[in-house]
Amino acid sequence: MKLSKYLEILHIAKISLEEYSNWGQDEIHKDATTDVLSNKNGFLKSACQFFCTENTNLREKLNNIKRKVSCCKKCSLGESRLNTVFGSGSESAKLMFVGEGPGYDEDHKGEPFIGRAGQLLTKIIEAMDYKREDVYISNIVKCHPMIDPHNPEKRSNDRSPSFEEMRTCLAYLDMQLEVIKPKIIVTLGASSTKGLLNNEEPISKTRGTLKEYRGIKLIPTFHPAALLRNPNLKKPVWEDMKKVICYLETGEI
Ligand code: URA
Repeated sequence: MKLSKYLEILHIAKISLEEYSNWGQDEIHKDATTDVLSNKNGFLKSACQFFCTENTNLREKLNNIKRKVSCCKKCSLGESRLNTVFGSGSESAKLMFVGEGPGYDEDHKGEPFIGRAGQLLTKIIEAMDYKREDVYISNIVKCHPMIDPHNPEKRSNDRSPSFEEMRTCLAYLDMQLEVIKPKIIVTLGASSTKGLLNNEEPISKTRGTLKEYRGIKLIPTFHPAALLRNPNLKKPVWEDMKKVICYLETGEI
């Protein structure tokens, strides 16, 4: 066999095995490994077809939830928003970030974390050696919480979501988690941490500690907007992200 062909097979095998692992498989029978490497029985083709179909199904499921969110009027945020902000990223992400809620930029574009805090979040993700498209990014509320809800065109009109708003919107995040099934959630800032863990502990105390939400590991950290205000927080956030990387790579912290 030509070396280039073999390298191509190995490349596809790597992608297939990573997909296997994304799907929660952490073992593969040694005969199957031989099948993978020799591409016996068209293993790679059928594995790729299987995963492509599965991912399309996941995308469809997420799109169905997105449609529900787009016409949601369960709370007053639905009256003032310009756009719902559902989430973005990979439908089979192992890592999911949950922020507090869309701001001005996100409300205008319908995409999460695209303003200054979002750009910093992208840098954090890249420093972890992932791409933004590899992870999933969402918020605990899907509409822009505004100080003055009659003025969506005003800048600096953001506020944190209320406990009631988070509780009302949580069902959508739960549905997203049900489809994506990440291995670990990182809550960004006090709001999403309190909203998911249902506690009142200050973020300075909870950050970096291993928690669980609906059977999924969770690590709270500071919100990137807080890092913009206080660069001294970058170090603890990086400490927290190292724990996340370690968990994703070894299954342990
Ligand atoms: N802050 C958040 O918490 N979420 C966003 O989507 C943007 C800024």
